[in-house]
This record gives sequence, structure tokens and C-alpha cells, in this order.
Amino acid sequence: MAKLVIIYGTGSHNTEKIAEAIEEGARAEGIETILENVSNADKNDLSDADAIAIGSPNYRDLMMPTVQKFLNELADVDLSGKTGLAFGSYGWGLEAIQAINKQLTSYGVEMIKDLCIKRMPGEEELEICRRVGSFLACKINNKEVKCAA
Ligand SMILES: Cc1cc2nc3c(=O)[nH]c(=O)nc-3n(C[C@H](O)[C@H](O)[C@H](O)COP(=O)(O)O)c2cc1C
Repeated sequence: MAKLVIIYGTGSHNTEKIAEAIEEGARAEGIETILENVSNADKNDLSDADAIAIGSPNYRDLMMPTVQKFLNELADVDLSGKTGLAFGSYGWGLEAIQAINKQLTSYGVEMIKDLCIKRMPGEEELEICRRVGSFLACKINNKEVKCAA
């Protein structure tokens, strides 16, 4: 079964809500998912994943230090060819999400479009997050078929 691993940092739960909605959308497509706060995350869970989604809020133009540390630790895991997503909540700038994208790209991950949600996601934004989760699931379930964005 295709597997998506979602790892996130969060200060006030906004990015956590995004992560949960991504998982909900992916699960609805029948794939296996692992959802972990970065403080409990295990990099070994990523080695057999088909897709990885890493999220962080933007704090002082940076991702959370815990997320940065985890990303750095991934340097010795072979992630090449996996599908990836960078996501997070922000107030006014996208630096954290863009930095996640850049680092995963440097590991050979094939990134889909970033999922950036301003502040607390409302029902409309959560639905967008669920759709991104479904899209990721579709991509790793059947790589040859075009998935609706
Ligand atoms: C101390 C502090 C610093 C912040 N710095 C930034 C920033 O540099 N850029 C930005 O876009 N948002 C900034 N924000 C806003 C947060 O990114 C925003 O509140 C986000 O929703 C927090 O997500 P979380 O609930 O997952 O922690 C900051 C918020 C706080 C409390």
C-alpha cells in the first residue's frame, strides 16, 4: 500500500490543523499514513514512504528549529524520487515553507506546489488541505495517471 508520512512543527496548532486535514484527504483515498509532531518523529519512518509532507509555521522568517533539525537529519536518508510537499501556516511571509521546499528538493524529492495557509485555517482552507492530501495520495497510488490538482 502506498505510504504518506506527514511531519509538522507547530506553536499554536494552526500548522497541526493543516497536517491533520492533509492526512484526512489522503486517508479518504485509501493509502497508509503516518502523522507525527516533529518532536516525536522518527526519520526511519521516511525510508519506505512514497510521499513525505513536512510542515512548519513561519517564526521570525524561519521554520521552527525543531523542524530544521529534523530536516538536517534527513541528509543520510535516501529520499530521491519520492513525492514531497512543504506546508505551513504563516502571518505575512513564506520563508519557512520555501526553505522546507528547497531543502527537500536538494535531497532529490520531487516537490508538488507548496501549501501555504495564512494564520488559522477555516473550513474553506481545511477543504483545500484535504484536497492536497487526496492529490498526494493519487500521485503515489498511480504514478502514471494524471491526478486532479
Ligand atoms: C513570535 C512570533 C513570530 C512570528 N514571526 C513571523 C514571521 O516572521 N513571518 C510570518 O509570516 N509570520 C510570523 N508569525 C506568525 C505565525 O507564523 C502564525 O501565527 C502562524 O499561524 C503560527 O502557526 P502555528 O499555530 O502552527 O504555530 C509569528 C508569530 C509569532 C508569535
